[in-house]
Amino acid sequence: MRAAVAVAQSMEDPLAGLSLEEVATPQAQPGWTRIRVRAASLNPHDIWTLRGVGHPAERIPMVLGCDGAGVTDAGDDVVIHPVLGDPNRGGGDVTFDPRRALLTETVNGALAEYVLVPDSCVVPKPEWLSFEDAATLGIVWGTAYRMLFTRARLRAGDRVLVQGASGGVGSAAISLARAAGARVFATARTQAKRDFALAVGAHEVFESGARLPERVDVVVDTVGEATWGHSLRSLQPGGTIVTCGATTGNMPPAELNRIFFQQLSVVGSTGSTRSEFEALIRFLGAAGIRPHIDSVLPFDEVRSGFQRLIDGDVRGKLVVSAPDAPR
Ligand SMILES: NC(=O)c1ccc[n+]([C@@H]2O[C@H](COP(=O)([O-])OP(=O)(O)OC[C@H]3O[C@@H](n4cnc5c(N)ncnc54)[C@H](OP(=O)(O)O)[C@@H]3O)[C@@H](O)[C@H]2O)c1
Repeated sequence: MRAAVAVAQSMEDPLAGLSLEEVATPQAQPGWTRIRVRAASLNPHDIWTLRGVGHPAERIPMVLGCDGAGVTDAGDDVVIHPVLGDPNRGGGDVTFDPRRALLTETVNGALAEYVLVPDSCVVPKPEWLSFEDAATLGIVWGTAYRMLFTRARLRAGDRVLVQGASGGVGSAAISLARAAGARVFATARTQAKRDFALAVGAHEVFESGARLPERVDVVVDTVGEATWGHSLRSLQPGGTIVTCGATTGNMPPAELNRIFFQQLSVVGSTGSTRSEFEALIRFLGAAGIRPHIDSVLPFDEVRSGFQRLIDGDVRGKLVVSAPDAPR
């Protein structure tokens, strides 16, 4: 089958290690489900893999694609919950399993004709959700849901700031927080991206680093060094900053005096549990929210899609059709 494979790693030139090539088709085995992929989506995680960040060289080659949706050998339409692990090792929460992994970290991903995943990762796809929409949910929407509702304990009426509004996690967080009854502020670097943030649910939008009309209860920050100081300054005393990523660097000044004096909570978040993921899908259905798809690309354009992600030139999600989909 055709697949998009990480065959080498380079910090400076990550796409040099990306190869669209023939690989062996996975065979069904007990405890695992084979899915014929209908759509997959692109995530910065794949670029970290290609850069060699958080992905050891001995796990190369690896088929990329942390997110996907398709049809099982039994004929069921499904979406992948891409967190692999044992909830029992995590005290009942798979994201706390010290050995948990995302799809593509230990197991081949969904940028291929077929993907083989543990049965526990297979979630029924409702009919109202297209394969393309479903393929965007596993990483960014699942993560945004857990960040807001489990880790930051968002409540209706809270004020929320979302940094990096046009990104996958950022735009999902805006829509979810708005639908949950929060007042949502968002920052983005260009006017076009700020307009996008308004379209997906932000009440007010600002340039990165701008002073807000009032302080907020929760900040969603996936950007890291470029926004961290502004995030801390924007919080109410007692507020919470929740982070799941550090696109611009992971070593901002800690500003401990601000954290203790304002009694701020700094909370990390990664992925989602299966029950959070299922609740997310019910929430999208109940609230009428649909994922924000920038474009659906043919499989042969995976490379240019990743380049757009690197360039920061995406609003919401880039989806890729299966390699054997008609053009
Ligand atoms: N831990 C987890 O489970 C998990 C899950 C998903 C993602 N992540 C991580 O979270 C991060 C975001 O993921 P994503 O899928 O949302 O990525 P994305 O779609 O590429 O979005 C990245 C965002 O970062 C912002 N940004 C980039 N450079 C910036 C700068 N110099 N100044 C201000 N803003 C800047 C952009 O904001 P603009 O709107 O201004 O362009 C963009 O919206 C990545 O590092 C990813 O690896 C972690």
